[in-house]
Amino acid sequence: MTVADLLRGLPSLAGPLPAFDPADAPSDPDELFGTWLSDAVDAGVIEPHALTLSTVDPAGRPSARVLILKDLADGVWHFASSAVSRKGKELANTPWAALTFYWPALGRQVRVRGAVSVANGEDSARDFLARSPSARANALLGRQSDLLADRAELDTALAESVERVENAPDTVAPAWTLYHLTADEVEFWQGDTTRKHVRVQYVRKGGSHWTRELLWP
Ligand SMILES: Cc1cc2nc3c(=O)[nH]c(=O)nc-3n(C[C@H](O)[C@H](O)[C@H](O)COP(=O)(O)O)c2cc1C
Repeated sequence: MTVADLLRGLPSLAGPLPAFDPADAPSDPDELFGTWLSDAVDAGVIEPHALTLSTVDPAGRPSARVLILKDLADGVWHFASSAVSRKGKELANTPWAALTFYWPALGRQVRVRGAVSVANGEDSARDFLARSPSARANALLGRQSDLLADRAELDTALAESVERVENAPDTVAPAWTLYHLTADEVEFWQGDTTRKHVRVQYVRKGGSHWTRELLWP
């Protein structure tokens, strides 16, 4: 079977999917995200806090990868990574990004755009220390997205890093960074099995004031 045949046989948005009445959308997108996230948890979506982070390089060429959402408060979306990684370098150069969530069991997508800033060192350190020992040992390697010539090199470096975490559990990886994306646009997309999808776009008009508009599907 060719890839094209395989793809053609795969259903998308087969449902059943929940209805979403845009008239019920609250004035604050954070509130709607909280509701949809709880719905995703209740529906058994695996890793509903996983999002796709899109950034651009200096030539404007995009790249995207999956990360975990750490918090959402006052229109600010928190995620964490290494400042020396590809995304870290891209964000340092162009501090703008998009986040995308997809919850297949509900046919729901959430899209966020905004400016990205670096949280203060204390918050980054707190985020780092809340990670599991193995996650901290990995982050302490400090070489995310560098070329790796040999897996054996990783094994050796990781063994040292694990020991470091055991001996000095308060050690914080210097490059570990908590990022804050201040949303200026948040779109909630409810898929419909007949393709009459519902799209509600929030646009920030300053402070915590948002407008809500419908978009064509
Ligand atoms: C479910 C999932 C969660 C992930 N969470 C994170 C995360 O929170 N932070 C992170 O730096 N990388 C995370 N990763 C790894 C990234 O997708 C990516 O491989 C890594 O950050 C390097 O990206 P870059 O080379 O574009 O900088 C996660 C991957 C998956 C599949």
